Amino acid sequence: MSKVTVVGAGNVGATCANVLAHKDIVKEVILLDIKGDMARGKALDSWQQASVDYYSTYVRGTEDYAETADSDIVVITAGVPRKPGMTRDDLISTNAKIVNSVTSSIMEHSKNPIIIVVSNPLDVMTYAAYKASGLPSTQVFGMAGILDTARYRAFLATELNVSPKDIQALLMGGHGDTMVPLPRYTTVSGIPVTEMITDDKLDAIVERTKKGGGELVGLMGTSAWYAPGAAAAQMVETIVRDENRIFPCCALLTGEYGINDMFLGVPVKLGAKGINQVIELALNDDEKALLNASANHVKAVLDVFDGMNI
Ligand code: NAI
Ligand code: 2OP
Repeated sequence: MSKVTVVGAGNVGATCANVLAHKDIVKEVILLDIKGDMARGKALDSWQQASVDYYSTYVRGTEDYAETADSDIVVITAGVPRKPGMTRDDLISTNAKIVNSVTSSIMEHSKNPIIIVVSNPLDVMTYAAYKASGLPSTQVFGMAGILDTARYRAFLATELNVSPKDIQALLMGGHGDTMVPLPRYTTVSGIPVTEMITDDKLDAIVERTKKGGGELVGLMGTSAWYAPGAAAAQMVETIVRDENRIFPCCALLTGEYGINDMFLGVPVKLGAKGINQVIELALNDDEKALLNASANHVKAVLDVFDGMNI
């Protein structure tokens, strides 16, 4: 049974740890935060839920990296979230230093973990963790595509009055307003979505998906946590169960889609060793242009990070 560490016991990290405990697939979850008592409190609360919701996963809170020793999987959610008026990219100067130091501390105690990054700006923070860890890129990747696709699926389910369970969809690109939902790869129980909805309505849903994070920041004054925490826990589950599920994840590209040396959302096959395969779709010219525009946007943020010299 695996040991999982979740760094950051805020909204997303605590949700991820709690959802993971409910799956009852790992021996223990270490919830680490610089606010140690908050991590201990949320972990204790989760453990006290175990007999009610019937799971055995022990959730332990700490601020001490020694307790993360020999983690198989680490989820990094440490950092500051978006506030109204901010983009994800505005978070870079604070979160880059946090992700860098968290990753180094993790690597002092775990030799060969798989690291899933959640902190924003996601694509560049995943690159930061990759650089700081020294791990192969198959073991360091980011969570965003599952969340963004889940939002797209939720909006489609509402519009079509069907269960979100029956909607299969794919989305690529950076985790920002330039993300690329792919209607051509969207089906409802195998039926192409384009046969079930007008172009106008589908376009509106695509646009709403792209701004889905901002919509929630506007409503709540901070960014979302239920779907993000659950999405990160789903990635952990796929790895623990060695399921080889195909998800959109933020992965290092080395020539795929004509893009090099940057992390970007693409479909990957996820199993026990991390990313088994980056899947290259035969995108049409319009889709390629949108993906390249998204990559250019991420590249600009990456240049800011590189300029920080941390
Ligand atoms: P939050 O403020 O609720 O929690 C962040 C936690 O990180 C706090 O408890 C804070 O004490 C902790 N922290 C800060 N520095 C730390 C350090 N050096 N070591 C350990 N812990 C540290 O924020 P929330 O809502 O949980 O969001 C966390 C991050 O995830 C943000 O950067 C947010 O933008 C990002 N996010 C990413 C999503 C994605 O799809 N990739 C979706 C939602 C949020
Ligand atoms: C979200 O998409 C802000 O990345 C965060 O909810």
